[in-house]
Amino acid sequence: MRPAVVLLPLLVVLAGACSSAASEPVWTATPSELPAASSDAVAELVIEVYKSPTCGCCHEWEAYLRAHGYAVRSVPTDDMAAVKAAHGLPEATWSCHTAVIDGYVVEGHVPIEAIEDLLTQRPAIEAIALPGMPAGSPGMPGTKAGPFEILSVTDGEVAVFGSY
Ligand code: CU
Ligand code: CU
Repeated sequence: MRPAVVLLPLLVVLAGACSSAASEPVWTATPSELPAASSDAVAELVIEVYKSPTCGCCHEWEAYLRAHGYAVRSVPTDDMAAVKAAHGLPEATWSCHTAVIDGYVVEGHVPIEAIEDLLTQRPAIEAIALPGMPAGSPGMPGTKAGPFEILSVTDGEVAVFGSY
């Protein structure tokens, strides 16, 4: 079976979950109510977020980034599979949105602590990812059951980046 055929139901499920999450306010605080970015270097960077225009949880993850001082530039697209393929993300790492910051790819509802470690440590990897859309991750409703295992991608190889 071709991978594209297998993937289609997964994307439909992800998109459906995204849309349903839109009605539940998760990150409702306005930027003025939250602390500024913990790092000036991070605050000056723009993070580009590729997402479906109808994805509610993607919007909530962007709000979470903005609340922590990130400059977010949304890039709406109807073909997220093409975006993920173009950024070298193996299917096992796929979530809803795909972001790019300072030359690195950030896939899914990754916590800012992981992004800040990525930008500070600058490892020789291409991407970090939180596959799927786990409950309680930034921008997603629900309760965090435990640390999230953030993956890394290097030349298509998936490894563990860290726990957050
Ligand atoms: Cu999502
Ligand atoms: Cu998303």
